[in-house]
Amino acid sequence: MAIKILSVVGARPNFMKIAAICEAVREYNASGKPLPIDHVLVHTGQHYDANMSDMFFNDLELPTPSLFLGVGSGSHSVQTAKIMESFEKVLLVEKPNVVIVVGDVNSTVACALVAKKTSWTVVTERDFIPKLVHVEAGLRSFDRSMPEEVNRIVTDALSDILFTTEESANQNLKREGVPDEKIHFVGNVMIDTLLRYRSKARESTILKDLQLFDKDQARPYAILTLHRPANVDDPETLTKMLDAFLEISRDMPLVFPAHPRTLKQIQEADLGDYFVDHFMERPEPWDSRVRIRLLPPLGYLDFLQLMSMAQVVLTDSGGIQEETTILGVPCITLRDNTERPVTLTDGTNVLVGSDCKKIIEEFTRVVKGQREIPSTPQLWDGHAAKRIIRVLVEGELGSAGLPLPSQADAISKIDSQQPD
Ligand code: UD1
Repeated sequence: MAIKILSVVGARPNFMKIAAICEAVREYNASGKPLPIDHVLVHTGQHYDANMSDMFFNDLELPTPSLFLGVGSGSHSVQTAKIMESFEKVLLVEKPNVVIVVGDVNSTVACALVAKKTSWTVVTERDFIPKLVHVEAGLRSFDRSMPEEVNRIVTDALSDILFTTEESANQNLKREGVPDEKIHFVGNVMIDTLLRYRSKARESTILKDLQLFDKDQARPYAILTLHRPANVDDPETLTKMLDAFLEISRDMPLVFPAHPRTLKQIQEADLGDYFVDHFMERPEPWDSRVRIRLLPPLGYLDFLQLMSMAQVVLTDSGGIQEETTILGVPCITLRDNTERPVTLTDGTNVLVGSDCKKIIEEFTRVVKGQREIPSTPQLWDGHAAKRIIRVLVEGELGSAGLPLPSQADAISKIDSQQPD
């Protein structure tokens, strides 16, 4: 007898979160507990490029997914619908006790909806619907124009067990009427992964590759990441922001690993003059050029090392706000709001939006000023995933009297029913 847990990944920010859960399951199973976990990993294929997906499986030593749904891109509705259609077939074949979704991407909400709308008959002959678990629940930007905010609200409303990363998330869920017993404050699985791979990341040669080492010392440099539709989809907004980044690149090298969505917008709006392309054969030394250095998306270990040594990170990502807080690197967030307020109160984060003047002012303040020493948000200690597994195996499932799949159920798994 085993508990069957099915975890979903789809897009880049999911991989580092699921890596911590995979590791905690491995440890749990190795400890020889009487009720092992049968862990099934499903990749929806929302992100599919080698450098948006495959590199992360290598860097994070993730198991090959049992199933790859290959949904690819499309409008939000098309992408969500394609995931739902494929994932329903997976659930009916796999029949897990628990479905784990993480974060706030389209794969998260699509699989959450399917998990709560699909049932099957178990040996006890009653309809069984798996428990839906949301990891990184309760975060709110209070900006419903962000697709991720809609995904968070819907996923939380459907979830049976909600694991949170910070106190604001607990408060948000309570305000929305989620009963206390469903909410478990466990810490941050993404930080589990960061702490686990930090020393391995130091072996990365990325700084040398980018000529950011000067006489065996890292020279000051800044990093930029940008992909949110609000920042990149309108050429006028994007151009104004690029003017600010260009100004910054006069002060120090600005390294920009660009998301495919952003690259597409840069090409379509003919904004290539802002950049130096790192793909060239022998890049010139930094000193002879101002302009932003464009790179392909980096793997986890290279990006972690690049971030650790940076003077400052400019970003519109969610997760990077948290990672820089733990690394003690100043983070200038190119958004007007954040769903992760603990990074403002305890960490290194500051919000500037997309305003050119504010971006430059904040950059100047950060590089000229003293580095503030951030405090570590509560429970961001590398053990969040272990707490999650403990709650699932020893707490929730036991007390909820969850039916377990019988041997017969497991054997009746029909290969021919695998999704397309
Ligand atoms: C998604 C998430 C966002 C997350 C981001 C991180 C949603 C709603 N958004 O946004 O929360 O911060 O991922 O990366 O789920 N593309 C490629 N190659 C890939 C993946 C995407 O070329 O491997 C292209 C797609 O074809 C599309 C664009 O990038 O044109 C956007 O991809 P999509 O998956 O729709 O959302 P993201 O913008 O990546």
